[in-house]
Amino acid sequence: MTIQETLVPKKSIANTGPKKTILIVAASLAFFVVLITVLAFIFAEIQQPKFVNRDLVMQNELLIPPLLKPQIVGEEKVFVLSAENGETVFLEGKPTKTDGYNGTYLGPTLRAHKGDHVRIVLTNNLSQPITTHWHGMHLPAIMDGGPHQEIAPGAVWEPHWTIENEAATLWYHPHLLGRTGEEVYSGLAGLFIIDDENSDSLNLPKEYGVDDLPLIVQDREFRQDDEFVYAPERKDELGHTGMLGNTILVNGTYAPFVDVPAKQIRLRILNASNARRYNFGFEDGRTFYQIATDGGLLPSPVARTCMILAPGERAEVIIDLTGETEPLTLISNAVHEENKILRFARTMINAERDENQVFKIIELRPQPTAKVTETLPQLLNSIEPLSSTSAVRKRRFILDPRNRSINGKKMDHQYVNEVVHSGDVEIWEIINLSGTFHPFHIHGVQFQIIDRRGKPPAAYELGWKDTVLVSNAEIVHVIMRFPEFSDPHTPYMYHCHILEHEDMGMMGQFIVTDEKISRGKIYIGTADSEIENYHNHAP
Ligand code: C2O
Ligand code: CU
Ligand code: CU
Repeated sequence: MTIQETLVPKKSIANTGPKKTILIVAASLAFFVVLITVLAFIFAEIQQPKFVNRDLVMQNELLIPPLLKPQIVGEEKVFVLSAENGETVFLEGKPTKTDGYNGTYLGPTLRAHKGDHVRIVLTNNLSQPITTHWHGMHLPAIMDGGPHQEIAPGAVWEPHWTIENEAATLWYHPHLLGRTGEEVYSGLAGLFIIDDENSDSLNLPKEYGVDDLPLIVQDREFRQDDEFVYAPERKDELGHTGMLGNTILVNGTYAPFVDVPAKQIRLRILNASNARRYNFGFEDGRTFYQIATDGGLLPSPVARTCMILAPGERAEVIIDLTGETEPLTLISNAVHEENKILRFARTMINAERDENQVFKIIELRPQPTAKVTETLPQLLNSIEPLSSTSAVRKRRFILDPRNRSINGKKMDHQYVNEVVHSGDVEIWEIINLSGTFHPFHIHGVQFQIIDRRGKPPAAYELGWKDTVLVSNAEIVHVIMRFPEFSDPHTPYMYHCHILEHEDMGMMGQFIVTDEKISRGKIYIGTADSEIENYHNHAP
C-alpha cells in the first residue's frame, strides 16, 4: 500500500465526515442530557421524603408505663423487678412473643429523688441470661449493669446506690455482650425518672401520665404471623444501618392517641429504637420548647420546630395546647444522611423503612380542662460549664475506621481499652470516619459538648448528655468529670448506641481507679497517622 493509496480514501471520508461526526456528537450529547435528566429525576424522586403512614388512623389509646411503687426498707427505696416473657397484642391480629419487666412488653417507670438510697431486686425469669443497665446513671461500675453483671436465668441481682444524678429522664435496658439489640427489641426497656429540689420547685407540668407524658418511641417490624422480625431475616441490614422496622410503637402502643388537658403539657421522649433516628416535630410545624436533654434540664427553654433524637437519646419538651380542641399529630420528619450519595444508597436499600421518610408518631387530643396554664419558667437550671483548662487529658476515639470498631478495635470482654483516674476531668474527641452516623454513649457520666466541627453547640445541646450523635465526617469534643467511684476490676462501657453496631463490637471499656499504678499505663488510642489521614481527606 502506498501513501497515495491510503490518502485517497481518507480524503473521501473527510468529505462526508464533519456532518456525520456532528450528528453522532449531537445524538450522543442529547442522549446523555436525557439520561442525566432521568437519573437526576430518579435520584431526586427517591430522596423525596414520603409521608409513609399518612392514612394510618390513630385509634389505640396510649399505654402509660405504670410508676413502680418502691418498698421502704430502712433507709432504702426498694424496687422489685423481674424480666419475663409473654405475649403482647399490638396489632389487631395475633399476639406477638415479647419480653418485659413486670409485664410482657417494656417495664414500669422507676422514679426516685436525688439523695435517695435505691436498691433494685431484679429476678431474671427468662430462659436466657440478661443484664440490666441504668443508662445515664452516675453509679459504681459494679452496679452499672453492663456486660460484666450478667444475670443468669433464675438468678436475682440486687444493685444499690445513692442517686447522685440531677432531675432527668434516664432509662434501663439489657446490655448482654452481643445480644443487646435482640433483647431490647424483644421489649426489655423502661424509664427511670429522677427528681431533685430544683425540679420540685419549678412550675412545670409534672402530673405523670396526665400532663407529663412518657413517650418511649420504637420501630418494629412484624412478620405475616405477627411475630417480630429480627435477625436472621435482616442479616445484611443489621450490619449496616442496624435494625429498622416499618411500624412505630409508642410505649408499646400501635397507632396511638392520647387525651391531654388543653394546657401546657410535657413530653419526655426516649428514642428506645435499636437504630433509627427520629426528627420529631408537629404536623402543623408549630413551635415547641425543649426543656431537657439526656441528663437534666437545660439552662432555659429552647424554641424548636424539629428535633433529632438518635438511639439512646432523650429530650423533654413543652407544648402549649391552651384553648385547643383539634387533634395534633407528633410526626417524624425526614432525617438525612449528610452525604448525598450515602443518603441515596440508604434510601434505595431501606425504602419505606428509611429515616428519609415522614411518619406519624402519636396523636394528641386536647380536652377541655379547668386547670390553668402556668407560664413556662425561663430559668430552668444552672449548669456550670466544665472548662477545657480543667481537663487533665484528651483521648481520641475514631469511630468505625473498619467494620464496626472504635480505634480499630472491637469490644473484647477481657481487654480494658482505657484507664481513667477517678475524679479527673477529661476531653474526649470523637471522630466519625465512617459513612453513617453513630450515637456515642459513655457510661457512668454525664458530659458537656464543647464543639461540633469546631463550632460551639446549639442552645439545645447546652445540657448534660450521655449520648451524642456523631454524624458522618464529624468531630465532636465532649468534656466530663469522671466518677469518684474507684474500682480497678470492673469497667464501664463506651459504645455506639445503634444496638447492632454495639453487638458487632463497636464498644470499648474503661476502668476508673485512683490507684497510682495505672496512671502510667494509659492506653492512648489510635496512632496519629490515622488522624493525619483524616485531615488530608476531610472535605
Ligand atoms: Cu443505653 Cu451502654 O447503653
Ligand atoms: Cu448507658
Ligand atoms: Cu454505630
